[in-house]
Amino acid sequence: MPQVLITGGSGYLGRELVRLCLAAGWDVTATYASHPPQISGARLLPLDLRQPGAALALVRAARPQIVIHTAYVQGGPDLSAITAQGPGDVAAAAHSVGARLIHLSSDALFDGESQRPYTEDDPPSPITPYGQAKADAERAVALAHPAALIVRTSLIYGGPTPSPHEQMALDAVESPERFTFFTDELRNPVLVADLAAALVELAPTSRSGILHVAGAHTISRYEFACRIARAAGRPADALRAGSSAASGLRRPRHVAMDSSRAQAILRTQLRGVRDVLPA
Ligand SMILES: NC(=O)c1ccc[n+]([C@@H]2O[C@H](COP(=O)([O-])OP(=O)(O)OC[C@H]3O[C@@H](n4cnc5c(N)ncnc54)[C@H](OP(=O)(O)O)[C@@H]3O)[C@@H](O)[C@H]2O)c1
Repeated sequence: MPQVLITGGSGYLGRELVRLCLAAGWDVTATYASHPPQISGARLLPLDLRQPGAALALVRAARPQIVIHTAYVQGGPDLSAITAQGPGDVAAAAHSVGARLIHLSSDALFDGESQRPYTEDDPPSPITPYGQAKADAERAVALAHPAALIVRTSLIYGGPTPSPHEQMALDAVESPERFTFFTDELRNPVLVADLAAALVELAPTSRSGILHVAGAHTISRYEFACRIARAAGRPADALRAGSSAASGLRRPRHVAMDSSRAQAILRTQLRGVRDVLPA
């Protein structure tokens, strides 16, 4: 039975990963930072990646064969410590005990100026602090653990509780004036169950390098929000559409992700959002 360590086990993706790995009969250690999850069957350990030596101590305690690193923050004063530097520490620790590593990365490291879907061969071109942190993390992971698999994904949705993206759409139904959903920001949302299943499938392989694992359909944030609202049985008519380009904000816009390499090697179907959420 594989021994897997899942960082961010209290997170949206981490919880689904823990559930799937336990269902597969794996020996699971999962970490949390501030929200100890209610999970039976897994060993739970606290982890604070801001603390020097924390990743190494964790890996020495858990002795995993496989590490799946999902823990991160998207902003705030600890962005660099947790999201940019933390992955390098986890990678070095995993390498030191001979463990396989899968690191979760993001479509946010692209500038969104391309007119075609991004492939694994496209270099990072971050334009936000979060995108920069994820790009720095990829570099640190590849240096510390050359055989690591780096999985870039897109907006995650569809778990037992609403993801932040879903919650925002549901909140907007109640208070449309508080939110604007851009029609010119494109993403490939991925079901959390599909992403977690893909990661569990990839975990025991020797696949290394970068792999894009996102949903099959590219849609705008506005269309995504409308579909989320309708799937929850709520009216989408009042949701406010807007233009990212006209907003003056510097944000990645056209970030379509080409996941054809992943789909060619996976049994797991990376379902497209239009096949999952009603129009
Ligand atoms: N969500 C998306 O739409 C999306 C899109 C693209 C890529 N990704 C990538 O997918 C991964 C997982 O995302 P997610 O949405 O599942 O994340 P999430 O729900 O926000 O969970 C983040 C996890 O990181 C942990 N964490 C926070 N601060 C920490 C610290 N100081 N030390 C150690 N752990 C800490 C949290 O622990 P506590 O909750 O216990 O504090 C939580 O378990 C991330 O690497 C992200 O970059 C996500």
